[in-house]
Amino acid sequence: MTSFAIVGHLARTDGDFSLNDLPGAGRMDVLCRCVNASLFLSHDLRRDADCYLVLLGGPKAPKTVLFRGGELRSLSPDERSAGALVKKALSIPCGSEFREAAPGVYVRNGGLERLFTEHAFAVLDEKGTDIRMVPAVPEAFLLSDHQNFSDAEEALVKDAPRYSVGPVCLHADHTITVISNEIDRRKNGWK
Ligand SMILES: C[S@@+](CC[C@H](N)C(=O)[O-])C[C@H]1O[C@@H](n2cnc3c(N)ncnc32)[C@H](O)[C@@H]1O
Repeated sequence: MTSFAIVGHLARTDGDFSLNDLPGAGRMDVLCRCVNASLFLSHDLRRDADCYLVLLGGPKAPKTVLFRGGELRSLSPDERSAGALVKKALSIPCGSEFREAAPGVYVRNGGLERLFTEHAFAVLDEKGTDIRMVPAVPEAFLLSDHQNFSDAEEALVKDAPRYSVGPVCLHADHTITVISNEIDRRKNGWK
């Protein structure tokens, strides 16, 4: 089981945004691409992967939306499809526990602090240790969106291992693809 969590620093926490303008919803487009990178194979889904979106924009922040690859039924590989499911999740009332908004899509109040107590996250960071040198790939990865982690987030994750997929800074969704590829290679005995 692999989990990815992406911090959306400006991403809307209400469902009042247009699917025609996902960038205008606090760069929700970045997060939707991360959902797709975490979960899609060609003509299939990664049933053993989850993707958490930690949404920090707007008056209802923080909220966390969870996509469970093993349970999803209505996700298509385009940004609007993921955006529509996020919008649906943000449109229902929720409390401190995950509430299902659609098959495989859940929402709750709260953000990184709680999530960090639930998974042993490794932080993805281009200055971290080369992931290819790590004997066992971790099961949970934390990424930032188009912005740097805030000082408070950095303080929260200061003791977590930091791994890199290469020396240059990639988009978050591309980084997820490289990590998934590394896991695929190891699972299938590739060096
Ligand atoms: C677009 S980058 C963040 C932008 C950057 N912090 C800035 O504002 O200059 C998105 C995220 O992808 C991950 N990432 C990007 N390149 C990476 C690499 N080479 N190795 C590991 N993670 C990487 C990090 O988690 C990063 O926060």
